[in-house]
Amino acid sequence: MAALLECRGLDVRFSTDTGTVAAVSGLDFDLAPGECLGIVGESGSGKSQTFLAMFGLLAANGTATGSVKYRGTEILNAPRAVLDELRGNRLAMVFQDALSGLTPTMRVGEQLAEVLVRHQGLSRADARARAIEALEIVRLPDAARRYEAYPFELSGGMRQRVMIAMASLCRPEVLVADECTTALDVTVQAQVLRLLDGMKRKAGTAIVLITHDLGVVAGLCDRVLIMYGGRAVEIGPVRRIFREPAHPYTRALLRSMPSLGADPAVDLPVIPGQPPDLENLPPGCAFAPRCTERFAPCQAERPALQVAAADHRSACHLGRVQ
Ligand SMILES: Nc1ncnc2c1ncn2[C@@H]1O[C@H](COP(=O)(O)OP(=O)(O)OP(=O)(O)O)[C@@H](O)[C@H]1O
Ligand code: SF4
Ligand SMILES: [Mg+2]
Repeated sequence: MAALLECRGLDVRFSTDTGTVAAVSGLDFDLAPGECLGIVGESGSGKSQTFLAMFGLLAANGTATGSVKYRGTEILNAPRAVLDELRGNRLAMVFQDALSGLTPTMRVGEQLAEVLVRHQGLSRADARARAIEALEIVRLPDAARRYEAYPFELSGGMRQRVMIAMASLCRPEVLVADECTTALDVTVQAQVLRLLDGMKRKAGTAIVLITHDLGVVAGLCDRVLIMYGGRAVEIGPVRRIFREPAHPYTRALLRSMPSLGADPAVDLPVIPGQPPDLENLPPGCAFAPRCTERFAPCQAERPALQVAAADHRSACHLGRVQ
């Protein structure tokens, strides 16, 4: 099936007083209609900036190069009006910080209604009814009353649900959910994930789930892309990667996964060492300083993604010698 999103050679750079931050480098992946793709990596690995770049939402000091096609049409660095239209109708993003996705001075219900008036031409009264319905679907308690609330009056979990309701209003083809459950307690987290799963199953929405939590990926995603230092280090079907991870970083992530039922706030996965400095990336494998399996070529030569099995690729020199 033709891809909904095709990302090729995506680079994201930020210029700072001290140099250039290579936030994302040479990223290639596809998103198929109706699939759920997990994006996993430590803090700073380039997960959010990848999608902010695609949606034309980089900070002013950022630039994106490469190619991102939506249904065959180039959207990377497309004019603002084109991206605004797509974001309203086809592509939706639930931001890592739900406050930043909502206008602080506008009642949450009105923000939802506005989307329907602007993009679907509904009357104010119809938009209000549909917005309340959408808030009920995401199980916002007392939806009609909360329609009148300002974002700061809601808890983090409620704001995430409002964002998901907003994202679902126009039945987007692609929903990017960026760490949308991280700040939530386990019960609310499970409810939000069920909502996303429902959108995938019932509306056929393709979902990109950005997360630190491999457990979440196992429950919801079809494929997973593991990022390290702004690059894809492994990509493939979730089941295959959990069973036969090809990259030492993925193996380390899997080993450090909190056991079922552990409190994620206490039992955070830890891999010894520090993530790479994106202003001074090493010439070879960025994971080499922390890799227990490194050998002669690792520090000199950067490993390219290569096929480990059908639909499964990994960027590690070990692949060459196994
Ligand atoms: N405006 C900016 N100027 C300079 N560097 C930036 C800017 N915005 C982001 N970065 C850097 O880009 C890198 C990638 O950031 P990104 O937000 O994509 O990380 P992430 O994988 O989403 O991490 P997290 O899991 O913490 O959300 C980070 O090192 C970040 O500090
Ligand atoms: S290329 Fe070398 S250092 Fe990098 S992950 Fe593979 S074995 Fe480890
Ligand atoms: Mg992020």
